[in-house]
Amino acid sequence: MEDRIKQIENEALEAINSAASIAQLEEARVKYLSRNSEFMQLLKSLGTLSPEERPRIGALINSTKQQLEEAFLARRASLSQSEQQKKIESSRIDVTLPGKGIKRGRLHPLTRTMEEAKAIFLRLGYEVAEGPEIELDYYNFDGLNIPPHHPSRDAFSTLFVTDKVLLRTHTSPVQIRVMEKRKPPLAIVAPGRVYRRDTPDASHSPVFQQLEGFLVDKNVTFGDLKGTLTEFTRQMFGRDRNVRFRPSFFPFTEPSAEVDVQCILCNGKGCRLCKNTGWLEILGCGMIDPNVFKAVGYDPEKYTGFAFGMGIERIDMLKYGVDNIRLYYENDLRFLEQF
Ligand code: PHE
Repeated sequence: MEDRIKQIENEALEAINSAASIAQLEEARVKYLSRNSEFMQLLKSLGTLSPEERPRIGALINSTKQQLEEAFLARRASLSQSEQQKKIESSRIDVTLPGKGIKRGRLHPLTRTMEEAKAIFLRLGYEVAEGPEIELDYYNFDGLNIPPHHPSRDAFSTLFVTDKVLLRTHTSPVQIRVMEKRKPPLAIVAPGRVYRRDTPDASHSPVFQQLEGFLVDKNVTFGDLKGTLTEFTRQMFGRDRNVRFRPSFFPFTEPSAEVDVQCILCNGKGCRLCKNTGWLEILGCGMIDPNVFKAVGYDPEKYTGFAFGMGIERIDMLKYGVDNIRLYYENDLRFLEQF
């Protein structure tokens, strides 16, 4: 019996110390230390031994059992430590890996350019006013010195709602609405959507945005208009770009002009974008017509002023070389993400 105990001890120690995982160690424990294991059964057979042998063998079994249990606990401690170590190592986070980029939203290019244009005038002391998109024909036309049957009404290709109600074709009606309610001095910008019955193409959309501006006070001159709009153009398109004022006609301004900026593609040499003129038209302007002042009850002998209006799509197209106005309304991220 003693030999068998020694044998089991050796086998069990070998099994415990060579167990490569907690699971293998548990197998060894069941095999050698569980209630039904051969070794534990030996305890039960003590009764069959002679009374002289019994204490010696009993003590041997007990000390072997204790030894095996200690070996088991020691092995378990070292295995669980190294398994934990492995787990930590395999789940370690490499903080130097590049992160997943989060897509950030941004303003639509038209919103941005509108805000930029407004900001230039706000810095010059202008305030913002708004008017309705569904407008009375009085504000869109008559008040602006465009009487019924005036030929320039045709040029606006108006969308009518009823006889007297229409979708505004420009932001100039806001001039009349503000001047009706308030007295000079006034310096106002009016942003908003306008509508025209135009067939859509690369440069026309039936809905687009304008920024209107006007200033009324005593002794306002064409020089003030030139200085203001030259400064605007420089802030918008760059200081090194030339600006020119070209005579034009609008029923609500006299004299009237159009402002051109040196072509952003060819710098004035002439190209397809500027149709070989070297210049790009960016806005209409002029000194407010005395008839407009009379319509709102201002004395044209006492007050003078200037007004201007620009298309935001057009400004943005010219500034960034966008060749199709439809790109602004299609919401294609490949386009929008470039801004
Ligand atoms: N309202 C004009 C247009 O839409 C622009 C303009 C505004 C011209 C103010 C002169 C003064 O074409």
